[in-house]
Amino acid sequence: MKNTTAKLTDDQIEQFHRDGFLSLDAITTPEELQKLREIYDRIFNEKMGWNEGRQFDLGGDESGDKPVLPQVMQPSKYFPELKDSLYHANAEVIARQLLGDEMGPECGEHMIYKPAEYGGVTPWHQDQAYHNPAVKVRSVNIWMPLDDATVESGCLQFVPGSHKLDVLPHHSIGNNPAVHGLEIDDPQQYDEQAVACPIPAGGCTLHAAFMLHYAAANTTTRPRRAYTLVYQCPPVEREEPIDNYWMREKKTKRLERASNAAK
Ligand code: NI
Repeated sequence: MKNTTAKLTDDQIEQFHRDGFLSLDAITTPEELQKLREIYDRIFNEKMGWNEGRQFDLGGDESGDKPVLPQVMQPSKYFPELKDSLYHANAEVIARQLLGDEMGPECGEHMIYKPAEYGGVTPWHQDQAYHNPAVKVRSVNIWMPLDDATVESGCLQFVPGSHKLDVLPHHSIGNNPAVHGLEIDDPQQYDEQAVACPIPAGGCTLHAAFMLHYAAANTTTRPRRAYTLVYQCPPVEREEPIDNYWMREKKTKRLERASNAAK
């Protein structure tokens, strides 16, 4: 494990629990960022994990020739050295400050890529809308862009305090169950409450499990590459599972590839 350099102040910890999100200017070094960019570009250029459904288009139905919002799950499967990064070490220390000793050792990871000029919108959603409807979790998502993230390139935007909500009804993007991505119902109402968090490359935003968030389409000439780590406490079973019909009706090429690969 690397020597860590990050530590939240008491004010930042309080802000996270009150608002549900936080941004930091640096969680890694410029040198490490450069190495991470090389790995990141290889993963997407070589479509690593595509055949197993581990890489897919979050924002489209994969019928065109290029994905609008490529995503890959568990990138350290392809580059185990990612786990030895300063980013991971710092993220773990910070997450533990926010979640306490109950935090589990596992770290979820994914990368979402908004290509220059055509990277699609990530509509308003709660991450928990994708997850097991029978449990509740406490978690922290740490979202680090590898390029300066602005409103126009797709930095994250949040609705302060919305982490205190439970899961609200969602639907597939474009009401198309062939698209993996979700959007919350009646999303327009959140636009005016949004707080955008532009941050430099190698900075990060942190958000809590039920936080409502959004990222605009990338209309700039620069890519918006982002690498997310997720830490969580052991899930607590709900008395009654939520009805996440929006996930049950999914029929994506990604699921097809994953089930073929498992045969
Ligand atoms: Ni999300």
